[in-house]
Amino acid sequence: MLVHFITDEPTKLPAIRAILEPRHEVMARLLGDCDTKIEPHGVLVVDVDLRQACRIERLRLALQRLSATRHKLFVVHNQCGSMTAQACALGATAVISSAKEAVFKLAQIEEAQAAGKPGVVAPSALTECAAAFASMFLAVRAGKPISLSDATRATSQIIDRVQRSGLTSYLDEVRRYHEGTFQHCLLVTGVSVGFGIEIGFSAADVSRLGIAATLHDVGKACIPLSILDKPGRLDAGEDEIMKSHPVAGYDLLKDIQGMTPEILDGVKHHHEYLDGTGYPDRLTASKISDLVRLLTISDIFAALVEQRPYRAPMPRQTAYQVLCDMNGKLENSLVKAFRNVALAA
Ligand SMILES: [Fe+2]
Ligand SMILES: [Fe+2]
Repeated sequence: MLVHFITDEPTKLPAIRAILEPRHEVMARLLGDCDTKIEPHGVLVVDVDLRQACRIERLRLALQRLSATRHKLFVVHNQCGSMTAQACALGATAVISSAKEAVFKLAQIEEAQAAGKPGVVAPSALTECAAAFASMFLAVRAGKPISLSDATRATSQIIDRVQRSGLTSYLDEVRRYHEGTFQHCLLVTGVSVGFGIEIGFSAADVSRLGIAATLHDVGKACIPLSILDKPGRLDAGEDEIMKSHPVAGYDLLKDIQGMTPEILDGVKHHHEYLDGTGYPDRLTASKISDLVRLLTISDIFAALVEQRPYRAPMPRQTAYQVLCDMNGKLENSLVKAFRNVALAA
């Protein structure tokens, strides 16, 4: 298979050849040398430091010539959240954690091609949604406003997708193709939408709940990546900082035109519990709206079934049991109604 490799680090040129040759034909180029004569077929592997604006610009130019390339694998070391966001925004179809991992992805692509399937590429609607999440996070980190219309568009694509193919297929695809905070946000939105549909919400209410879910963790864009992407447990100080994300999200969104009180309520209060032990406002049952109750259940479930590099996803049955065991914190009747969403085949 023809593999185009673009990097900003000269020592990686012989390294990628050593990894992929002779099984694959490798066209390895340094960023800046690759702006001409690239055939738009084969698979593209990018290993560039995406934290540097000038390199992103050069890469963007190279990628314009490769827009027809179906498979674009981006190497993001150490699960760096901002680089993952940037990779999605640049059109990555898969994010891998090391150049060596390309060996497995290429084998999957070859296998899929041999079977006449399109290959391991994220379906375009989901790629677009992930890109919308990525650009929201990038906007926040760059001090720019969040686009409510982008969030609304991404949400309606997710609603459409869940209605067409069902929640299970959606969850499987999201976990296969997306990582970290983006995976979490895509999962929460899909689960919330599935929940709203299950309990007979109107289309307008499903949409409201979906947009609140899409935006619920946007405040995490204000959390330092060393905490957000930390693979292990957070210490007490880090946990405190992490817990600032609902208020940070509320502050980011409150002045945006078209933002509704329900969405702001969902963003600020999705970690509140009926018994008053949640945060940030320690609200109790009478102060917690229905939308927030649905969102909280969806958020916890989605977090439990996430695919993470350092642990296997919890089976859906076990995750549902965790919700059932949260006595007094979640609304029992809603947890019961959630059973069909959690366990749907
Ligand atoms: Fe959250
Ligand atoms: Fe969340």
